[in-house]
Amino acid sequence: MEALGREIAAGLGGGEVLALVGGLGAGKTRFTKGLVAGLGHEGEVTSPTFALMHEYRSGRLPVFHLDFYRLGSAEELIGIGWDEMLDEGGVVVAEWADRFPGMLPPEARVLAFEVVEGGRRVREMG
Ligand SMILES: Nc1ncnc2c1ncn2[C@@H]1O[C@H](COP(=O)(O)OP(=O)(O)OP(=O)(O)O)[C@@H](O)[C@H]1O
Ligand SMILES: [Mg+2]
Repeated sequence: MEALGREIAAGLGGGEVLALVGGLGAGKTRFTKGLVAGLGHEGEVTSPTFALMHEYRSGRLPVFHLDFYRLGSAEELIGIGWDEMLDEGGVVVAEWADRFPGMLPPEARVLAFEVVEGGRRVREMG
């Protein structure tokens, strides 16, 4: 999962929104760790479940890593600076993105994670 994150990171140029969907423990945070590391950021990557958003600014592009799991409403998302994050020209990665699908820009890439026998699988949806 981290290897896939690094691979996707290599193709990013800024301005992308990655919408990660899929159940608990399906690998969304592990994938993001690889992506953040692949963009050259130093330091640890942890789940933003409680902080709601983690920002990484030491690499090639800024990364905003969000988790919609504990967000109560779209208004709360706006309140933590969603529109500004989208305007920064960095990379926005949102776990549990399907909780507020209406907040995603139309160009967002949706990556669906699932637990399968013996591992994890990711599919890119349209
Ligand atoms: N092939 C794999 N890829 C990713 N994680 C794996 C794999 N096999 C086992 N795991 C384990 O599954 C867990 C994946 O957790 P992760 O935090 O990435 O999930 P998540 O999708 O972010 O879940 P949540 O919805 O709770 O945020 C980790 O504990 C990891 O060690
Ligand atoms: Mg997670």
